[in-house]
Amino acid sequence: MKGQLTWIEVRDSIGWIKINRENKLNALNLELIDELHDRIINFQKHSSVKVIALTGKGKKAFVAGADISEFSGFKPQQAGAFARRGNQVLFDLIAQLEKPVIAAINGYALGGGLELAMSCHLRIAVQHAKLGLPEVSLGVIPGYGGTQRLPALIGKGNAMEMILTGDMISADKALKLGLVNQVVPAEKLFEATITLAERLMKNSPNSIKNAIKAINASDITLNGFKDENLQFSKCFGTTDFKKGVAAFLEKRKPEF
Ligand code: COA
Repeated sequence: MKGQLTWIEVRDSIGWIKINRENKLNALNLELIDELHDRIINFQKHSSVKVIALTGKGKKAFVAGADISEFSGFKPQQAGAFARRGNQVLFDLIAQLEKPVIAAINGYALGGGLELAMSCHLRIAVQHAKLGLPEVSLGVIPGYGGTQRLPALIGKGNAMEMILTGDMISADKALKLGLVNQVVPAEKLFEATITLAERLMKNSPNSIKNAIKAINASDITLNGFKDENLQFSKCFGTTDFKKGVAAFLEKRKPEF
């Protein structure tokens, strides 16, 4: 079944969601966030779906971030509300879902794209994938949980390096850091995702649900997410933000 910005299919108890905005490297705009929300809620209710797999269309990008053109004119208050809404309807929904969600990372996972992958319970990346949180190069910071989920996955020191440099890392480095669970050749992504899903599906769905809840309770504080939202929204009133976003939209490097 094909929607505006996503494509879905249920096969062998796996609910596949493919993000279908290839000409913008699958960047997340509000419409896409809402569509993903609806797809995930449907799969959550769908009794024949045991595992959800999320991927992007094309070879180039899983998701290259939140859609920069959409938030370029935001004031701090709007930005804070925008990120809170996105977290609530999509990122936290996935992280707290009762069915496991696997991110099948088929290319760039940057900014909101890496945050989306990190909100999933497991991640498989293709060898050519590049992962990063480049927000500081735009005069902003991660706003969809990246400052909280990245240190939980790879430790504070490694997260500081990735977030403060804004640099992208290779899939192999991501594997070494524990940011992804597996790296596979591009042509094996589909097969590897099915194999991983099958390993989960042989276990008790009730135990999987309870394990996700318990694991989530271990590492993240609500205050961290609130503070991220505050610091994220404050960036939007700055000249650095204007410079960073204008540079991206004009396809040049910013000078801070
Ligand atoms: N938001 C909006 N549009 C985006 C986007 C994003 N996050 N990422 C890519 N696009 C768009 C580009 O503007 C371009 O659109 P156009 O063809 O209408 O001009 C199209 O997707 C293709 O991207 P392009 O930059 O031309 O591809 P590239 O191969 O030269 O570079 C990237 C690929 C991923 C390095 C580059 O697109 C990039 O840096 N994207 C932004 C990453 C980012 O900062 N994400 C965090 C956002 S908070």
